[in-house]
Amino acid sequence: MSKVFLVRKEHFCASHRLHSDALSDEENKRIFDKCNNKNGHGHNYTLEVTVHADIDSNTGMIINLVDLKEIIKKWILDPFDHKHLNLDTEEFKSVNPTVENMVLVFWGILIKTELNSMLYEVRLFETENNIAYYRG
Ligand code: NI
Repeated sequence: MSKVFLVRKEHFCASHRLHSDALSDEENKRIFDKCNNKNGHGHNYTLEVTVHADIDSNTGMIINLVDLKEIIKKWILDPFDHKHLNLDTEEFKSVNPTVENMVLVFWGILIKTELNSMLYEVRLFETENNIAYYRG
């Protein structure tokens, strides 16, 4: 049996406001600067979901990429694409939607799907240069 990594890349757009209720308005402004803008700002996110499993000898696949795509669509894109993360999603009502927190939340969602034990990494590009990833 050969274990292989398989990556599915997706794109979504969302807006957010970086703000911590644990900090004063002045501290929020100082730490998050423009990202603390009261009415938020947007990003074009790139999400990479990596699974790791044995190749099925009958199919030559570790998971059908159509299935992987559908899982990501159902659990991440449908709920979060074109949303204001702080205002429109339960997950980020009280969790600051930094790129770090977002990978943790997305991992927590995907690990409960049929990907489960094959989930290896969730990587999120907030911009070309700002990237977070989590491996459980
Ligand atoms: Ni931002």
